[in-house]
Amino acid sequence: IDITSCTTFGIAVKAAQFAVFSSVDELKLILSQKEEGIPFMILGGGSNVLFTKDFEGLILKNEILGFEIAEKAGDSVYVKAGAGENWHSFVIRTIGLNLGGLENLSLIPGNVGASPMQNIGAYGREIKDVFHSLEAYHIATGEIHTFYNKDCEFGYRESVFKNKYKNQYVILNVTYKLSRTHQLNTSYGAIEEELKKQGITSPTIKDVSNAVIAIRKSKLPDPKEIGNAGSFFKNPVIAITHYEQLKATFPDIPSYPAGEGMIKLAAGWLIERAGWKGKTFDQYGVHKLQALVLVNYGGASGNEIYHLSRQIIESVRQLFGVTLEREVNII
Ligand code: FAD
Ligand code: EPU
Repeated sequence: IDITSCTTFGIAVKAAQFAVFSSVDELKLILSQKEEGIPFMILGGGSNVLFTKDFEGLILKNEILGFEIAEKAGDSVYVKAGAGENWHSFVIRTIGLNLGGLENLSLIPGNVGASPMQNIGAYGREIKDVFHSLEAYHIATGEIHTFYNKDCEFGYRESVFKNKYKNQYVILNVTYKLSRTHQLNTSYGAIEEELKKQGITSPTIKDVSNAVIAIRKSKLPDPKEIGNAGSFFKNPVIAITHYEQLKATFPDIPSYPAGEGMIKLAAGWLIERAGWKGKTFDQYGVHKLQALVLVNYGGASGNEIYHLSRQIIESVRQLFGVTLEREVNII
């Protein structure tokens, strides 16, 4: 079965089997009928995966829908959404209800169910700031487990679902704790600049959302036009002592505090400095406006993209002594 259109990279790939489920009962039924020993994988919007070969197993596409106000408590409103809901539509719907908390996370591709997987983040916010809980199907026991914020062990682009519980759970729904009064976070420089450009002095959550959308559109490729999976690598976190050595050679190196004794660098800057920005090899390459994004112009193979990522890692390691880690899930 051709699953090329199920991922935003748009790389030609087939799966031996493919099924869609829109409830936990359908999920259980499919798993009970699955042949013993056949590998399977959950897919949401396919915006953070790279297939390097055909998948010799069952792809299970999560299409569980749903949107409800689960509870109101003072200023807080708990909104529960099905894992298969489109993330950006969900964000826009909460903003339409004048609920604050997700505005900085506008226009991130993918579905609600994947949002806790890597604690999605952008423009000064991460979902962990407003995540309340999720329900997940435990594949081994058939039980449904509830995970609260601390149970997920969220970190920068990390959670238990990407690590110690990898492939053990299917996330069914996620509940966010949003607020009626708004605490805007416009600390990310580009947001302030964008609001100013639009002549907005006392922004609403809708204004912040619109500013984020405008910034994102100005540098990130739209997967409908150019295949990609957003940042291919994570921003590396290194020891301050290492950072100080780099700063001596590269005085303009961007950096962000990352906990005691640690500094986060901008992988996009490192990759650009290593000469990769805008490089094109036939049908694939490094995006010309954002060096952290690898792109498929049409017809590239997963292996070609993966090979390019290896070359970039090697080149950044040689120049800066920093080892980049991939953010995208390689399959
Ligand atoms: P998929 O790609 O379908 O799946 C990702 C992983 O999660 C896979 O391992 C899959 O098996 C697993 N998974 C998915 N759903 C479930 C489920 N219900 N239960 C269990 N496992 C599941 N990310 C950011 O954090 N910040 C950004 O600013 C950002 N910008 C992006 C911009 C572009 C243009 C693109 C293409 C991507 C960007 N991303 C960003 C990455 C991506 O949008 C997010 O990681 C998103 O949450 C992935 O959602 P998805 O539904 O597409 O997941
Ligand atoms: N930079 C360069 N050259 C580049 C790209 C960036 O010099 O080609 C520099 C910028 O000038 C800036 C710094 O690097 O000084 C950071 O750039 P930017 O604000 O564009 O953000 P990023 O660190 O490259 C991260 C996330 C994005 C998220 C943005 C906005 C990671 C791995 N990526 O990118 O998330 O949208 O911040 O918050 O943390 C994703 O995860 O897929 C993703 C797109």
